[in-house]
Amino acid sequence: MSVIISPSILNSDFLKLGESINMLNRSEADWIHLDIMDGVFVPNITFGLPVVAQIKKQATKPLDVHLMIAQPEKYIDAFHDAGADWLTIHFEAATHLHRAIQQIKAKGMKAGVALNPHTSVTSLEEIIQDVDLVLNMTVNPGYGGQKFIESSYSKISRLKELIIKKNSKALIQVDGGVDLNNIKKLRDAGVDSFVVGTYVFRSADPISTIHSLKTI
Ligand code: DX5
Ligand code: ZN
Repeated sequence: MSVIISPSILNSDFLKLGESINMLNRSEADWIHLDIMDGVFVPNITFGLPVVAQIKKQATKPLDVHLMIAQPEKYIDAFHDAGADWLTIHFEAATHLHRAIQQIKAKGMKAGVALNPHTSVTSLEEIIQDVDLVLNMTVNPGYGGQKFIESSYSKISRLKELIIKKNSKALIQVDGGVDLNNIKKLRDAGVDSFVVGTYVFRSADPISTIHSLKTI
């Protein structure tokens, strides 16, 4: 199976958002990754529901929405209505994670759980069978363009072992500092889906960069 590439628009030019979405539509990107930050769970604020709804009108690819917000369970219906296809919430932000995952699935969306770099894979023992995706942060959430955390490879191997042991169908996604130098090693460790922000949007030719990532 080929890898799933989910470009993050976080470091794109927001004055040219429509053009960026058209570019991603034309590219080999599989999903479009949208980073929602609230200034509480993470020390940055990005964009919210009206922007997601506008993107939905133009995008021909599934929207992969990554909520970096406190109390994510309050906004599940709203992000569904705005057009999220995949909705990922943070383990560290959801007090009633199991209930929130069921709410996401009841809305017909795919449900993801995200782990900060310091959160152990073993935290997922009791939820791994219920989720469609585990997003493992490979930088600390909040900003694009940060350095990839090298200890992530062994964490991903442990996550893959847990998924196999528990007979889960969850996909593994990594987010942060992904580029052509580390994508193969990450795939070999078991990653299915790659969020790539700066490496795509700061490249001279994003469409050919996405092609290179897709065809490793
Ligand atoms: C960081 C976000 C990422 C970010 C990735 O908190 O979750 O999706 O946009 O950007 P790069 O690929 O530049 O690290
Ligand atoms: Zn993200």
